[in-house]
Amino acid sequence: MKNRFRGKDFLAFKDLNREEIEFLTDLSLDLKKKWVSHEPHEYLKGQVWAALFEKNSTRTRNAFQRAAADLGITSIYLRPDELQSGRGEPLKDTARMFDRYYDGLFIRTFGHEIVEEYAEWMDHPVINGLTTIAHPTQGIADMMTIKEKKGGYKGLKMCYAGNLYNVCYTNMIMCATLGMDMYIACPDGMKPNQEIYDEAMKRAEATGAKIVVTSNFDEALKDADIVYGMSHYSMGQAPEEVARLKEAFHPYMVTMDAMKKAKRDAIFMHCLPAYRGIDVTDEVLESEQSVVWDEGENRMHSIKGILAAYAL
Ligand code: CP
Repeated sequence: MKNRFRGKDFLAFKDLNREEIEFLTDLSLDLKKKWVSHEPHEYLKGQVWAALFEKNSTRTRNAFQRAAADLGITSIYLRPDELQSGRGEPLKDTARMFDRYYDGLFIRTFGHEIVEEYAEWMDHPVINGLTTIAHPTQGIADMMTIKEKKGGYKGLKMCYAGNLYNVCYTNMIMCATLGMDMYIACPDGMKPNQEIYDEAMKRAEATGAKIVVTSNFDEALKDADIVYGMSHYSMGQAPEEVARLKEAFHPYMVTMDAMKKAKRDAIFMHCLPAYRGIDVTDEVLESEQSVVWDEGENRMHSIKGILAAYAL
């Protein structure tokens, strides 16, 4: 397909169609081959990007900085407490200054409206490294991993067990767009973001995918090709809310017994960090079915693919 990414923002899967999502995934897989064969790929040599992380990160930050280095980009890591925005300077003023200094902004932050506002005030591209409703660089890494392990997407079933935030919503759009069934196992009464659910259902209608929210873990696990574990709570939540979610989600911890209810060749995925004994057992995480380390490595290749698309 024609590359439409030059100079565009990369904020959420809901902004992309199937061809665009698959284009980025295949480009990332191609760059992984180049990495394995030590073939140089400095497609963005001379560019300088800002990496602003307003929340902790192991994978996303390091994956971005390594991907940037391989592409010939210099990345400048920014901490919010060292910027004047920490003392009240408006976002729109910060964004316009970043736009004068940098070729792009990679940002991890809180509300999705923050990345949208940066994108509005910057001509250079903004890449979302995680907001409350979207984790699109994780999404491309997950698609790479599924394609590597399962050969494709259509007709597969994912059982997702974990919090209803960014990774869940990115997976919802991904599955609906690609014709994969997704069963979201969560305590009774929990509901996904309505706007994202509606978008996923619209896409699912076109591909025939089933997007089901159920409190019945067994129903979600039955015949699943992918069991996707996830933290039961999210960064920045109040301690009382964390305690409530940990208790409510306890029956949805992924154990070896749960894995036995999925297909025999089911893979276990998790965006990490995983909390052993809370969202997944150590046994599952360390089992042959677990592909979490490959998935984590793919974070680097997928961010590289997203960046490289700006050069093609
Ligand atoms: N999966 C993920 O986003 O990991 P980090 O929080 O370590 O970046």
